[in-house]
Order: sequence, then C-alpha cells, then structure tokens
Amino acid sequence: MRSGTVTLAMMLFAGALAALPALGQERKKPDLAKITAAYLASPHADRTAEAFRHWDGEENRAVPGECATCHTSRGIIDYLGADLRALNVVEAPQPLGSTVDCVSCHNPRSMALESVVFPSGARLDGLGHEAICSTCHQGRAAGADVDKAVAGREDDAVAGDLAFINIHYKAAAATQAGSTAAGGYQYPGKTYAGRFDHVKDAPATCLSCHNQHSLKPAAIATCTECHKGAAQYADIRSTKLDTDGDGDTHEGIAAEIAALHARLGEAIGAYGREVAGVPIVYDAHAFPYFFADTNGDGLAGKDEAIFPNRYQSWTPRLLRAAYNYQFVAKDGAAYIHNPHYAIQLLHDSLQSLGGKVAVDLTGLARP
Ligand code: HEC
Ligand code: HEC
Ligand code: HEC
Ligand code: HEC
Ligand code: HEC
Repeated sequence: MRSGTVTLAMMLFAGALAALPALGQERKKPDLAKITAAYLASPHADRTAEAFRHWDGEENRAVPGECATCHTSRGIIDYLGADLRALNVVEAPQPLGSTVDCVSCHNPRSMALESVVFPSGARLDGLGHEAICSTCHQGRAAGADVDKAVAGREDDAVAGDLAFINIHYKAAAATQAGSTAAGGYQYPGKTYAGRFDHVKDAPATCLSCHNQHSLKPAAIATCTECHKGAAQYADIRSTKLDTDGDGDTHEGIAAEIAALHARLGEAIGAYGREVAGVPIVYDAHAFPYFFADTNGDGLAGKDEAIFPNRYQSWTPRLLRAAYNYQFVAKDGAAYIHNPHYAIQLLHDSLQSLGGKVAVDLTGLARP
C-alpha cells in the first residue's frame, strides 16, 4: 500500500516536471535545490504541525476522507480525480504522516485546475494556479449553512439543538472572494463587497502575493511602491471612511478591523448574558470555540474551554454574529485579503445584536 502510494506520487511528479521545459525553452532552468529548500522551510512541509498530526491518536490510524482532501497529499490528488477515481470526493481514509507535498500541486489535475466550488455552492472560474490554493483554503462552511440551521425559528429564541457553525482555519480564498463565494453570514437586504481585486498593476492573486513554495508574502517594499510610508502590512490603508468610528482615518485598516472585531466580541458577551441567559466566552484554540462562562469572569478558563462545556444556548441572532466573529478571527490576514468584506460582516453583526443589547454604533461608516 505504502510503496504503491510513493510510486504513484513519483510518477505524477515526474510527469509534471517533464512538462516544465515545454513552458518555454528561453526560461531560466529552475533551481530545484532552492525551490526544495524554500518548500521544506514552509508550513506546508511542517510534519510537526497540528494540521498534519491531529489524527495521530485516531483509533484506525488514518485521516478520514472528509479531512484528507486538505490535510494529506494523497487526499487532494484523490479529490481532484488524479487517481482516476471519482471527482470531488475522497473515497477512503488516507495514511497518517502526510503533508502538503510536491505532488499535491505538481500533478496534471492540480496544475490544470482553473475553477473552485466553495461551500456555498458558488463556483469561481477562470482562475490560474491559485485555484489549487483556493481548493484547500476555502473553509468548510458558508453563511447559507447558518440560514439553513436557523430556518423557521424566532431570532431570539434559545434552541438547544443549535450548534456553532465553523468556517474552519485560514480560509483566505473565501475572504478574498467576498460575496462571490458568500463565505460570511450576509444579512438580508445588505450588499457586500465582491472579490478583492485590488487595482491594475497591484497584486491580486494568491500567487502574486505568496511565493508558491516558501508561501511567504511579497516583501512590504513591493507594496510601498503605492502604499507610501507603510512600515508593515498592518499600516496599509486607502479607505477614507472612519469604519470603526474612533475619529482616526489614518491608522491601518487592520486596526479598524481589530477594533470592530473586539467590539463584536463584547456585544456577543452582552447578548449571551442578557438575552440568551447563559454567559458566553470564546477560545480561538479550543473546539468548538464558544463555551459557557460558568464562573462568569468573562474568560475562557482551562476547565471551561472543553467540549462538554460548549455553548448550547444559541439563538439564530447569536449564531449569525458568532459565525462572522469566527470568520474574521480565523483569517489573520482578512485585513489584506478583503478588508471591506470583513468590515461589512462586522458592522452588520454589530447592528443585528444592537437590536437587543446596548452596542455603540455611533460613527461607524460602512464601506
Ligand atoms: C477545504 C479544506 C479543509 C478540509 C476539508 C479540512 N481542513 Fe482542517 N485545515 C484546513 C486549512 C487550510 C488549515 C490551515 C492551517 C493553518 O494554516 O494553520 C486547517 C487546519 C486544521 C487544523 C489545525 C488547527 C491548528 O490549531 O493549527 C486542524 C486540527 C484541522 N484543520 C482539523 C480538520 C478536521 C478534523 C477536518 C475534517 C473533519 C478538516 N480539518 C478538514 C483546511 C481543511
Ligand atoms: C502548494 C502547491 C505547490 C507545492 C507544494 C509545490 N509547488 Fe512547485 N510550483 C507550484 C506552482 C503553482 C508553480 C508555478 C507553475 C507555473 O508557473 O506554471 C510551481 C513551480 C515549480 C517549478 C518551476 C519553477 C518555478 O519556481 O516556477 C518547479 C521546478 C517546482 N515548482 C518544483 C517543486 C518541488 C520540487 C516541490 C516540492 C519540494 C514543489 N514544487 C512544491 C506549486 C507548488
Ligand atoms: C492540499 C491542501 C493545500 C493546498 C493545495 C494549499 N494549502 Fe496552504 N496550507 C494547507 C495546510 C493544511 C496548511 C497548514 C500547515 C501547517 O500548519 O503547517 C497550510 C498553510 C498555508 C500557509 C501558512 C499559514 C500560516 O499559518 O501562516 C499559507 C500562507 C498557505 N498555506 C498558502 C497557500 C498557497 C498560496 C497555496 C497555493 C500555492 C496553498 N496554500 C495550497 C493546505 C493547503
Ligand atoms: C500598483 C499600486 C499598488 C501596489 C503595488 C499595491 N497596492 Fe494595495 N492598493 C492600491 C490602491 C490604489 C488601493 C485602493 C484601492 C481602492 O480604493 O479601490 C489599494 C488598496 C489596498 C488595500 C485596502 C486598504 C483599505 O483601506 O481598504 C490593501 C489591504 C492593500 N492595498 C494591500 C496591499 C499589499 C499587501 C500590497 C503588497 C503586497 C499592495 N497592496 C500593493 C495600490 C497598490
Ligand atoms: C494582496 C496580497 C495578498 C493576496 C492577493 C493574498 N494574500 Fe495571503 N497574505 C498576504 C499577506 C501580506 C499575509 C501576511 C499578513 C500578516 O503577516 O499579517 C497573508 C497571509 C495569508 C495566510 C495566513 C493567514 C493567517 O491567519 O495567519 C494564508 C493562509 C494566506 N495568506 C493564503 C492566501 C491565499 C490562499 C490567497 C489566495 C486565495 C491569498 N493568501 C491571497 C497577502 C496576500
């Protein structure tokens, strides 16, 4: 089984590499040693990462198909049909010990991929190689999943059978695509920013900002050609509106998003206490992220941030806002990938909670 795995992987990779010179004889021969070193130092090659070790303790010592698409090398190959089995499904659990390796991307299917279907069902076509990035970095839920879960219920009625709905980690492609992928919870009657396409001559695809092997983003110097004076990405801002209402329209857009996100956290807390009737706390690192604040200290203590103590007093209004809180929290670069979409989701969540608890909405300018 294992040797078969390696053989298929090697065949696919050899095939992909053999095709390289055809891309243009003029092109400088790629420096394989350099590429490999850059890749090996990247998170995709980090064998110790939780994203690759999470299943080590599983009873059947394998990564279930539904997780293997993005967490194993064979899984993504299987998902894209490069193993000649069905498309868009990983039929069998995959062996432990995988990473996102060369063949995950260097196989004919991954390299030819140009479209991506998001959890909302929306499909983006005409993409370049960022299609393969967006297949894994698309998240695992959409705003529509929240609507489905709360359909036919009163906005503020606690329902014991509701559970938190989680976008999953670092869904940069969902952020970047904005309302075209509808990854966030989009409130009815509002309009939302589409894909963050930047401007002509500015980087607008995963691969114009991230090196495909090191994954490192383009140096800040490539940004400051236009974003004069920015010492770090977080200083970048072009928005003239004061989106967080603090009177400062010069701070980086990252700071506005952070302020709004913190305010949403407070509003969620107030709603839990005053409307849902059970205080709620958030822990970014513990599944399923929202817990009952049993001692009411506003912090997720070690004995509170555990699955049996998961928050179970959800109302539709609270679930929508919490979904968006997590959407923004889990893409640490939402402020670059699509800042206006993030701000809109935060504003509308605040406004919705503000219908029931005290939320200061003065001066918030919606982009
Ligand atoms: C659509 C792709 C996709 C699927 C399917 C998927 N994940 Fe992930 N997962 C990711 C990505 C991307 C990350 C990003 C990790 C990072 O950069 O830290 C991640 C991260 C994680 C992490 C690491 C979190 C940490 O603390 O670093 C865990 C654990 C995880 N996923 C569990 C699961 C489980 C369990 C399943 C199946 C039920 C699953 N994932 C299915 C894409 C996916
Ligand atoms: C996450 C996806 C991904 C992984 C993993 C990956 N590559 Fe690549 N690689 C790409 C993409 C995308 C390109 C650009 C292809 C193009 O421009 O046609 C590329 C290009 C290349 C090239 C052509 C020169 C260049 O840099 O454009 C070589 C050689 C190469 N990769 C080798 C490797 C090797 C060896 C590994 C593993 C050590 C690896 N790649 C891992 C996505 C990946
Ligand atoms: C097969 C699924 C898969 C593909 C394809 C993939 N990624 Fe990833 N990516 C992951 C997983 C899983 C992690 C988490 C690795 C870790 O925690 O060490 C990750 C981590 C990352 C990180 C680091 C995030 C952090 O925690 O700082 C970046 C950046 C990234 N990927 C960008 C890309 C880009 C750009 C592409 C396309 C060239 C791509 N990824 C293709 C699954 C994938
Ligand atoms: C060719 C010029 C150019 C380059 C290079 C450029 N940008 Fe931009 N960027 C712009 C312009 C112009 C806007 C304003 C777009 C608008 O208002 O629609 C913008 C807007 C932004 C925004 C939105 C800020 C806000 O307040 O809404 C972010 C984030 C951003 N750029 C990040 C970057 C990063 C990161 C880099 C470097 C990797 C970069 N840009 C490189 C021209 C550029
Ligand atoms: C305009 C440039 C730009 C584009 C386009 C872009 N990124 Fe990023 N991305 C960045 C920068 C810069 C960072 C690091 C931000 C920081 O360090 O605060 C980043 C961070 C990330 C991270 C880590 C986020 C975290 O939570 O730490 C991932 C994963 C990622 N990008 C994946 C992608 C993928 C996949 C795409 C395409 C769908 C993409 N990026 C498009 C500039 C970009």
